[in-house]
Amino acid sequence: MERKHLVVLSGAGISAESGLKTFRDSDGLWENYNVYEVATPEAWDANPSLVLQFYNERRDQVCKASPNKGHTLLALLDDYFDCTIITQNIDDLHERAGSEKVLHLHGEIMNARSSVNETAVYRLKPGAHIHMGDRCEWGSQLRPDVVWFGEAVTQLEPAAQIVAQADIIVIVGTSLNVYPAAGLVQYSQPEAKIYLIDPQDVYVPYLDHRVVKILKKASEGCEILLNLLLKNA
Ligand code: APR
Repeated sequence: MERKHLVVLSGAGISAESGLKTFRDSDGLWENYNVYEVATPEAWDANPSLVLQFYNERRDQVCKASPNKGHTLLALLDDYFDCTIITQNIDDLHERAGSEKVLHLHGEIMNARSSVNETAVYRLKPGAHIHMGDRCEWGSQLRPDVVWFGEAVTQLEPAAQIVAQADIIVIVGTSLNVYPAAGLVQYSQPEAKIYLIDPQDVYVPYLDHRVVKILKKASEGCEILLNLLLKNA
């Protein structure tokens, strides 16, 4: 029998219990940086070494962190469903927990990329930093492979197609503040079952009335979700 398609839409909250801070729980600051001074093309033009330093710190933090129970339980879904994780997170904790199919909407902290050719991506070793003067094969400065505010989300189209095929959608740990990622759930079929796991009652535009909400942290919420899903699988 064909397995059901399940899509997880995850955000910073899934990694909170691994010690990585969310964005909107910290007064507009991201680890004490103003996001607009480190996560925009303008910031890169004005002060690339500050931007590199910021992402080098984030990479160090991600490398020291481990997947938490929420990531591990979501990885178990691969045993029962045709599961894809579509994450806004730049960390690699879903992969390290064992999830097979992970699509990163906002890029990956473990990759560097050319600043002239966005398809030229280089995997970094754990603990590696990108330095001023590190260049791609065409001679341009390497930058983090992350999508900054104001940049196009090139993975949106494939992500929307995956959401459109889902029988089950699980939204976990995202405030649904940042578009276009926040709008992805709108591509779902009318009969798709939608769950949301978050300690806050996050409002899902247009679809809120049919969302099953589990108002818990990811670790506890994913346990409740798995019990619900596996009962009906
Ligand atoms: N488990 C589950 N959810 C949690 C937990 C937890 N332990 N702790 C906090 N949360 C929830 C918060 O209640 C909030 O709804 O996680 C959500 C985090 O929201 P944001 O900080 O806005 O993160 P996210 O939605 O992923 O941000 C989207 O914004 O800054 C940009 O590009 C960045 O990808 C990021 C995007």
